[in-house]
Amino acid sequence: MSKVKPIGPIPGGYACRDGELSIGGRTASELVAEHGSPLFVYDRGLLHSRIEALRAAMPSQLHIHYAMKANPFAPLLEQMVELVDGIDIASGGELTMALNAGAEARQISFAGPGKRDDELLAAIQAGVTINIESPNECDRVLAIAAREELQPHLAVRVNPDFDLKGSGMKMGGGAKQFGMDVDFVAATVQKILDAGADWRGFHIFAGSQALKAEAIIETQAQTIALAERLAEQIGQSPEHVNLGGGFGIPYFPGDEPVDIGLVGEALKKQLSALPKILSNTQFAIELGRYLVGEAGVYLTRIIDRKTSQGETFLVTDGGLHHQLAASGNFGTVIRRNYPAAIATQYDKPSEEAVSIVGCLCTPLDLLSDHSEMPKAEVGDIVAIFCAGAYGATASPANFLGQGPAREILIG
Ligand SMILES: Cc1ncc(COP(=O)(O)O)c(C=O)c1O
Repeated sequence: MSKVKPIGPIPGGYACRDGELSIGGRTASELVAEHGSPLFVYDRGLLHSRIEALRAAMPSQLHIHYAMKANPFAPLLEQMVELVDGIDIASGGELTMALNAGAEARQISFAGPGKRDDELLAAIQAGVTINIESPNECDRVLAIAAREELQPHLAVRVNPDFDLKGSGMKMGGGAKQFGMDVDFVAATVQKILDAGADWRGFHIFAGSQALKAEAIIETQAQTIALAERLAEQIGQSPEHVNLGGGFGIPYFPGDEPVDIGLVGEALKKQLSALPKILSNTQFAIELGRYLVGEAGVYLTRIIDRKTSQGETFLVTDGGLHHQLAASGNFGTVIRRNYPAAIATQYDKPSEEAVSIVGCLCTPLDLLSDHSEMPKAEVGDIVAIFCAGAYGATASPANFLGQGPAREILIG
């Protein structure tokens, strides 16, 4: 077949045992026999090693936050609460999950462009930091807090006047629904201070899924300069500045991992030469997929093998209702293949080009397009890697009445 399309790079940390993909020491068929298919498997050891390596590379005083939108699975979240310094939430639902996972209120910060009054009330009552995203939102929070006679903890989310170059998802640098334009910030902080609320600082998130260290370094430098400019305008030092994140992971052919060594060295220099107004400020970065994405694998069993006009299709019992991103329908313009493998033929060489599809009745349900794989039959198990972030949580599990996949944390 001529139309072979490459797959993305398989992340490190996975092994072969008895000819099969092994995750945290368990083979794919052992895991599926025990827990069923389709199944998301998250490896605790890989979460630990990722965070250890990141901490070793970053300045020691930098706080690392986990953006739980990437993966809110309770056992994984409980583990992340132990490993990181803060949890970033994006809804009242995530607030409940974070508190249930053992996060302390002072470790939690809440960002999101449309927070409902009930969510704001819950956040104020819990005592978490709310990242204020508009002057109107500021008025609403202050009114709710005054009514409840509670002092809210408020940071201002700034829509930076620059973007994160090369990022897959730009969240600053232009007209955006996220945060407030720089021009509104000083007056909003003044309002917070005048109301007697606890002003916590700034949240400045420029973008997501960047792989180039130089781009991340430049954005971090611009973010610190912006925080300085705003603090000078306000005339007060921010206690905390969230520098955003944006560290991506390699999903597609040709993608290279972020060189965190370079990012860490540059940030060490930046933090050791801070302007006076930021010299006592606590800095944090906020990461989702970088922390958990490569620690997860989606396993799905082949239930049919068929040919059509000379092309081979492996039909699985899973699909885009669990792994929307791998199907190319979650924020990508051009569909490319995620890293994938026949988990039960892991030691075998590639032999044929196949399309691995899901069980849904839509042509969108394509998990791997014309990929070269070892020969696989009904009963074999497919692995889709990079499934630890925006997998189960970002997929339409109820589509066609299918329901969610099982999820497990092992190790
Ligand atoms: C405010 C905020 N924080 C964190 C993230 C997590 O991004 P990522 O998973 O790419 O690190 C996002 C993603 O959209 C975001 O909007």
